Amino acid sequence: MGMTQWWQQANFYQIYPRSFLDTNGDGIGDLKGITRKLDYLKDLGIDAIWLCPVYDSPNDDNGYDIRDYYRVHQEFGSMKDMDHLIAEMNARNMKLVMDLVVNHCSDEHEWFQKARVSRDDPYHDYFIWHPGRNLDEPSAPGSPIPPEPNNWASHFRGSAWEWNEATREYYLHLFSRKQPDLNWENPAVRQDIYKMMRFWLDKGIAGFRMDVINYISKDPDLPDVPARDGQRYVHDSRYYANRERTHEHLQEMHREVLSKYPECMTIGEMHQTPVDEGIRYVHPDRRELSMIFQFEHLGIDNGPGGKYDLPVSWDLPRLKQTLRTWQEGLSGKGWNSLYTGNHDQPRMVSRLGVTDGKKMRRRSAKAIAASFLLMQGSPFVYQGEEIGMTNVAFPDIDSYRDIETLNYYREAVSNGLSESKALRVVHLRSRDNARTPMQWSPDAHGGFTTGVPWISLNPNYPDINVRNESRESDGVHTFYRSLLHMRRNDPIWTQGTCEDLAPEHPQIIAYARRMEDGSVVYVVVNLSTRDTSWDVPAELADACANGSVLLASPTSSEEETSLTKLLPMQVMVISPLPSGSTS
Ligand code: GLC
Ligand code: CA
Repeated sequence: MGMTQWWQQANFYQIYPRSFLDTNGDGIGDLKGITRKLDYLKDLGIDAIWLCPVYDSPNDDNGYDIRDYYRVHQEFGSMKDMDHLIAEMNARNMKLVMDLVVNHCSDEHEWFQKARVSRDDPYHDYFIWHPGRNLDEPSAPGSPIPPEPNNWASHFRGSAWEWNEATREYYLHLFSRKQPDLNWENPAVRQDIYKMMRFWLDKGIAGFRMDVINYISKDPDLPDVPARDGQRYVHDSRYYANRERTHEHLQEMHREVLSKYPECMTIGEMHQTPVDEGIRYVHPDRRELSMIFQFEHLGIDNGPGGKYDLPVSWDLPRLKQTLRTWQEGLSGKGWNSLYTGNHDQPRMVSRLGVTDGKKMRRRSAKAIAASFLLMQGSPFVYQGEEIGMTNVAFPDIDSYRDIETLNYYREAVSNGLSESKALRVVHLRSRDNARTPMQWSPDAHGGFTTGVPWISLNPNYPDINVRNESRESDGVHTFYRSLLHMRRNDPIWTQGTCEDLAPEHPQIIAYARRMEDGSVVYVVVNLSTRDTSWDVPAELADACANGSVLLASPTSSEEETSLTKLLPMQVMVISPLPSGSTS
């Protein structure tokens, strides 16, 4: 891989700004709130922040529908606040990664406002239009609206096409109808995007997380996709994900923008992307992206209906196989990101762990962190994970805010699912699970706001909050902090390869991180709720007998632990070197 880049050694933290910290009492987190918490993040061991969109937006999809890429949404603050945040981060040697949402913009963006008025407007070709099924030309004004061009489904349910009467055409929206897809085949679109990227890079940001970037090129024939279970609109990513043209666009973006900022990093959000395809985005020779977020490990408990279905029981050997595929697949060919959640996912501690009872919740959160974040790659901690925040179960659908959740619920109920069953799915799978406000303290509204929060807090905040989790020695925050500092303090965590030591074991995750010079560290986790014993590999038993424990949960002062018989959710990170010696 050549020289180590800053982003390969950095610990990242993802902020969902609406829910992080409100400083003016309007119930919405803001930029000043982030600035105020920089010391908190620095102390936790964070080097860089991925900030979800803070651009001007009508908030149909909470900022992922951008009205003006050059403006900060007033509810988050001003451009002055943004400049101040960047300056304060620089002063702490921290980097800011912005969200780049350019598969689509808002229908309230000036481009679309102009585009929708007339087919002759120069901005018309900024979007993807079609006159309707089997038509080459728009039908006459006043004639009936033709059927949609094809059966593509929107990710937020219903058709991916919306009728625009003024031009007698449909426009494509893979997400909500207020998120028209941009036409990347138009060079003017690409140049406008590059210009905007330069604007932000020139401000001193360190790079971009690229929203659904593998969807930017669509099959120009816009064909129907094969029908499925009698569904009227069908999802089939083959027609818009990972197309060859996407790679060409990214290479152009690299040539025109990214290569001019050699220190900058990029991370692409890549749904539906297997490892061979992933390599093509991140191989340094291809000059596309620094890293990607792959999603295979997040589908581990998906039911047959996908994300919005009751989860099925997951199986650890399969999960490990997925993780191995990426660790081994990218080794020497690209760089992994490590993460267990984001603003679109239910909380991992509620998926793989146990959340009733303080002791087991804490142990589960730590076991998950150790299982995923100590492999090779750059770790991304999503806000609240460092205190073991859990899913929420609001008693009624009116408490939910997320468009994806609300559209799922409406459609499920109108298709005959009972309200209580639909709500149960929401409790387990909604994106709002990750979007309840950050729980800072046991004070009112968890210290997130002095006003009325835009979405209610998880009622468990008096128990689960930063204050408790950082003051108590067995708190989740205490553990995350140790883990992140440990990662940063020894290059083996960046450079060492990752070898699975227990691929078939149904409860244990055990891996070795090895350097070419023979140095090694071991991570052992019982990612289950039962005691377990196993045949400890000789080198590991040896390391345990003569070496030192770098990180453990529970600690030996909490409970007597051993490597052969592991307690539920036990974690041991072991170095073969006696304590005090450095590698
Ligand atoms: C990405 C974002 C998600 C958003 C969608 C459309 O998946 O992470 O929050 O709804 O793209 O922009
Ligand atoms: Ca605010």
